[in-house]
Amino acid sequence: MRRKLAAGNWKMNGTLTRVTEVMALCAAHQAPSVDVLICPPATLIPALATATTDHAVAIGGQDCHAAVSGAHTGDISAHMLADAGATHVIIGHSERRADRGETSADVHAKALAAHTATLTAVICIGETLAQREAGETLDVVGTQLRDSTPDSATGENTVIAYEPVWAIGTGKVPTLEQIGEVHAALRIALTNRFGADANAFRILYGGSVKASNAAEIFAVPDVDGALVGGASLTAEDFSPIITALENA
Ligand code: PGA
Repeated sequence: MRRKLAAGNWKMNGTLTRVTEVMALCAAHQAPSVDVLICPPATLIPALATATTDHAVAIGGQDCHAAVSGAHTGDISAHMLADAGATHVIIGHSERRADRGETSADVHAKALAAHTATLTAVICIGETLAQREAGETLDVVGTQLRDSTPDSATGENTVIAYEPVWAIGTGKVPTLEQIGEVHAALRIALTNRFGADANAFRILYGGSVKASNAAEIFAVPDVDGALVGGASLTAEDFSPIITALENA
C-alpha cells in the first residue's frame, strides 16, 4: 500500500509570522496516517524545519537549481535545501514552466540533483486548457512524465503531481472521470517504464483542491493525495484536507 501524501505549496506567500499556522497543523495532526508536507518559500525553510523537528510535518522547497553550487545568482541548490532542513522539493511546477520557461529536460536535471541530495522530488506535470480542448491531455502529460522523470526515480525518492494548468488557482476542477483517466494513464506509463516498482510511486492531484472537494477527489482510484496551493496557507483550511485524505 502506498502511504498517501497531503502536500502544501505556499508559493510566494508567507513570512515568519506564519510559523504559527504550521504549529497549529502539527498540533491538530500529531500522528497522522498520511504523510504531510509543507513547501514554504525558501526563506522559511530553516525556521519551519526546526519548528517541526518533533512533529509529523515534513518541509520542502519549491524549486532547486540543477547544479550543486556555482555562479547562479539568486538560485538555490538541492544540496542547500537539504542542508536547511528540507526533505522534499517541488520541481517543474507549471508556474515555473510558464514563468521561467522551464522545459522537461530542465526538470529532469533538477530531479536528478534532488535525488543526489537525497531529497524526494515532487515532479509536476499537467496540460493547459488549449491542450485539453484539443484532446491532447494524455499525450502531453505522458510526454512530460517521460521527459521529466530520471531513471533514478523510485517510489521513495519521487512523487508525481498531476496539476492541470487551467485548474490551478482558478476554482475550476476537472471532473472525477477526467482526473481518474489521467491518473490511470500515468500509472500505466510508470508501470511500462519501472515495472512492478511503479506501484510504489504516489500520484497526487493538484489544482483548486479545498476542504469541500477533497473527499470526492481522494476517492478516485490512483489518487494518492494532493498538492494544494491556496488552501494550504492556513491550518484551518489545510487540516480538513488532511483529515479527508486520512479517511479516504
Ligand atoms: P491551488 O494551487 O490549490 O491554489 O489551485 C495548486 C498548485 O499550484 O500546486
